[in-house]
Amino acid sequence: MRTYLVTGGAGFIGSNYIHYMFRKYDNAIRIINVDALTYAGNLENLKDVENRDNYQFVKADICDRDAIAKIFAENDIDRVVHFAAESHVDRSIRTPEVFVQTNVLGTAVMLNCAKAAWELPGGGFKEGKKFLHVSTDEVYGSLPEDENAFFYETTPYDPHSPYSASKAASDLLVKAYMDTYRFPANITNCSNNYGPYQFPEKLIPLVINNALQGRKLPVYGDGKNVRDWLYVEDHAKAIDMVQEQGRLFETYNIGGHNEKQNIEILHIILETLREMLPETDPRRAHINEDLITYVEDRKGHDRRYAIAPDKIRKEIGWEPETMFQEGIRKTIRWFFDNEEWLKNAASGEYQKYYSEMYEK
Ligand code: NAD
Ligand code: TYD
Repeated sequence: MRTYLVTGGAGFIGSNYIHYMFRKYDNAIRIINVDALTYAGNLENLKDVENRDNYQFVKADICDRDAIAKIFAENDIDRVVHFAAESHVDRSIRTPEVFVQTNVLGTAVMLNCAKAAWELPGGGFKEGKKFLHVSTDEVYGSLPEDENAFFYETTPYDPHSPYSASKAASDLLVKAYMDTYRFPANITNCSNNYGPYQFPEKLIPLVINNALQGRKLPVYGDGKNVRDWLYVEDHAKAIDMVQEQGRLFETYNIGGHNEKQNIEILHIILETLREMLPETDPRRAHINEDLITYVEDRKGHDRRYAIAPDKIRKEIGWEPETMFQEGIRKTIRWFFDNEEWLKNAASGEYQKYYSEMYEK
């Protein structure tokens, strides 16, 4: 049975990936999830898998070399899928150092422990071992508004935020391991994800949560920044396909020709909420465009991201499957059905972050 070590599996994309993998492979794989449970990590996301015999959770920091080495020593790990990271651009502008710590140093620890566990005495690595580093399209910087400009795997790195700079540094470390040691790895650079279990500091869940409560919907700058939105399950599927069908040592960009201005996203969410809430729901009364509030722009705000997923489509046959209209309805339905999750996620540390960020 193949054993996966997933880092950051209690976060948004990691937990969706674990659900996807158990749906696809059921008892044919084993997953060990290592997560430090920062503000973004939530074991509630994994409630329905926690009692499986082929699932194990280890609470540890990826910067803790001894803890990570111990997992490799006690288990014959076949695949590493490395999600764990500090992931929010706004937080990186306020507290950059923790991004360097987790995203750069943590990745170095993961690489080093995997290399030590997998290398053969005579050189080279044990057969079939693979490391997949999950990264972002933000490492490529910002595109002009020209609709024919896209990020490709060959686009030079040009990160602007402390978040994207730390992810770029971690990508380059993975590249260095591949180039120096022929370490068996892949890198994926994906566009913005949305879907169930996303922490409400990110645009889409923040807008859903605020609109349901009749709170202002903060739009940075002129609201015309463009992001390329991908439903999280499509990302999970792409990661698995790259690891199983991709060529080792290659980078694959993942995204979906689904570019939208932020202001369009707000209008779609408001419209979909009005459509989906029952006529009798009192929240309908306050869900309208008056909630939209333009606020000061994000510092260094990248104007446009867009991926041309040509390589992954041609080589692996992956394509985004979930149209935005369907994905946003599934996401809103999930938030309707998981009010308690949202209430818990949006309490405690988040309250403090929210008032420092938006109510200063
Ligand atoms: P997230 O913030 O929701 O989850 C991150 C997880 O990592 C949390 O469970 C957290 O507890 C854990 N973690 C943080 N620091 C840790 C540490 N030092 N040790 C162990 N665990 C730690 O993030 P996400 O949105 O699920 O993103 C996952 C990965 O995907 C990240 O590497 C991110 O850069 C990348 N990515 C995200 C997006 C997106 O739109 N969210 C797009 C492309 C790539
Ligand atoms: P976000 O979800 O933080 O993702 P990223 O910065 O990684 O792309 O933001 C998506 C877009 O929405 C980005 O252009 C910033 C903008 N935004 C707002 O306008 N208001 C908000 O409150 C947030 C969180 C984001």
